[in-house]
Formats: sequence, structure tokens, C-alpha cells
Amino acid sequence: MNLFADPILAIETSCDETSAAIVQGSQVLSNIVSSQTDLHKKWGGVVPEAAARAHVESIVPVFDEALTQSGVPLCDVRGIAITNRPGLVGALSVGVSAAKALAFSSGLPLLGIHHLEGHLCSVFVLNEIPFPHIALIVSGGHTELVMVKDPGSYSLIGQTRDDAAGEAFDKGARLLGLGYPGGKAIEDAAIGGSPDQYALPRGLSGDTCDFSFSGLKTAMYRLVEKEGANLDIADAAASLQEAIVSVLTERTILAAERSRVSAVSLVGGVAANKRLRSALEGACKLNGMRLLAPPFDLCTDNAAMIGLAAAHRFALGQRDGFDLDVYANADLP
Ligand code: KG4
Ligand code: ZN
Repeated sequence: MNLFADPILAIETSCDETSAAIVQGSQVLSNIVSSQTDLHKKWGGVVPEAAARAHVESIVPVFDEALTQSGVPLCDVRGIAITNRPGLVGALSVGVSAAKALAFSSGLPLLGIHHLEGHLCSVFVLNEIPFPHIALIVSGGHTELVMVKDPGSYSLIGQTRDDAAGEAFDKGARLLGLGYPGGKAIEDAAIGGSPDQYALPRGLSGDTCDFSFSGLKTAMYRLVEKEGANLDIADAAASLQEAIVSVLTERTILAAERSRVSAVSLVGGVAANKRLRSALEGACKLNGMRLLAPPFDLCTDNAAMIGLAAAHRFALGQRDGFDLDVYANADLP
């Protein structure tokens, strides 16, 4: 894998984390994340206008801290990478404007990066990445199975037809009164609970690499209503987690078998879930496949993964102009 050898400054502001990182080759020299979780908690979800304003406040301190922690002075940086799609347009605009200003004043080359390509490239910190491999991207907005033929060459194998896996965790947590964000809350509440206690639907049946999680949300709603005060929260959280994990694991192995690959990567915020990591690890072992899972801090949104994606593209000589725009929706490149 050919990666740009010089330091890159990467910035990520697509949703509710303001992040900046210094990446050199496959090495992460710093990765600062300022989370807005406490800000959005009171509304139970991300409020786009509030997210954009919080990015305005945090972006320069976060960028400054990323440089300080890396020990790399700005004059040694050789490229600026910025998430420009997909995401909340107001939030993305703050990062892109800051990156443009920096590129303009420093004369450094600028590159816009697709947020999901960032998640896909978070595994670049691991040793010897095999290509092709199948990637399971599981985040708050996306659930996709992608064939990664080479860095920068992707094809979609399957995706959710309704809610994303992270959304299923978040909505389930809200129904169980576990607060926001829900993924980690469900994981913690599920400790000691029985995953077989409550029967929950697995979505689409049959030989498909697509997913559906909207039925799970409805089933959870009915369960909470039916059981009332008798509902065992640990059992309900464990049952919900298992319903999501089992379907993600099964479909990922199916996609890998169909594509005849011997490695699978697990990326995105939900990849931080320990039960998912161990279930997929077990299934991969059973099928003679290798699991590539990034360290926990590279699963949820962060700028280091954007720098890793850029390290590959800068090495190919790719650059963007100052007309770089932001997009709420965009297919993988
Ligand atoms: O990738 P990410 O940080 O942001 C998006 O690009 O959407 O993913 C956020 C999602 C949220 O839905 C959150 O609940 C989920 O990842 N998440 C988890 C865990 N940590 C974060 N889901 C399950 N278990 C976790 N430990
Ligand atoms: Zn993400």
C-alpha cells in the first residue's frame, strides 16, 4: 500500500465531533476529538444548527492541540485533508471553510475526503491489510457491506433498507430510558442480561446482504409497552444487542463467502461494540477468515481516519481546488 510519507493535517466535522489529527503514512501522531454529546443529550439527538455552532467554537483549539500533541510544527505539514461529504451541511461547512483558510494561508494542498472512506481506511493502522476484503461499515447513519478491492476502489454489496445499526441501538436505548448516545449505553446495560430472554425480529430473511432494522424498533416499542414495570432492562438490552449483532455477523460472513475473500474489516461507531467484535471474530475464525478491527478510538468519528484516507490519495497526487463543496449525501468514490 502506497501512503504519502509526509505529515498530513486532517479535520473532521461531519456530525457532532470536532476532530483534528496529524497522520504520517500509516501512523497516527495525534488524534484530538472534542465531542458534543453533552450539548445534544438534552434533545436526545444531534441538532444540526447547534452542532455547526459548536464546531465554530472548538475547531481552532482542537487543531492547535493536534499539532502540539503530535510534536509536528505547522511548517512541517505537507497536506490538509477535510471531510466534505456526506454529513450535516452546516457542520461540514465549518470544517471545510477552516481547511480552505489554512490551505490558502499556508499554500498547502487541500483534499476533500468522503466520511465513509475515512471509516474504511481506519484499518490502515493495522499491519499488512489484505486486498480485496469485505468491509462492514456500521455507524449512526450507515450500515453497508462494501467490497474493498484496493484503497480507493469500492463497490457496494449490501446496505440497510431503513434504519442504520447505530440508529437501532440509539432508538432502543431511548425506549429503554437509557439516554443518548445509545450504543454504549445498551452495551453497558446488557452486561449480565440474558440475550435469549426476549424474542426480537432479525429483519430480512433469506439469502441477502441487505439489512432492515425498522421492525426491531417497532418490536422494542411493543415489548416496552407490554412488559411495563416488569421489563428487565438488562435482558432487554442484551436481547436487542444480540438481535443486531447476529444479523450483522451472519450477513458479513455471507458477503465474504460470496466474494471469496479471506478477510473482513469492521469499521464505524458500532464497531466499538465488544459483543459485535467478539461475535464477528468468532465467525471469521470458524470460516478461516481474518478480522480487521481498528482500535476503539478509531471506530467512532475522528480525524485520524480522514488523514489515513488522504494519505493514500495524496500519494496518488490528488488535490482539490478552493471550489471544494460540501454534500449531505454522496456515494463512496
Ligand atoms: O461512526 P459514528 O461515530 O458516527 C456516524 O458516522 O454516524 O457512529 C455513531 C454510532 C451511534 O449510533 C452510536 O450509538 C454507535 O455508533 N456506537 C455504538 C457503540 N459506540 C458507539 N453502538 C454500539 N456499541 C457501542 N459501544
Ligand atoms: Zn462516522
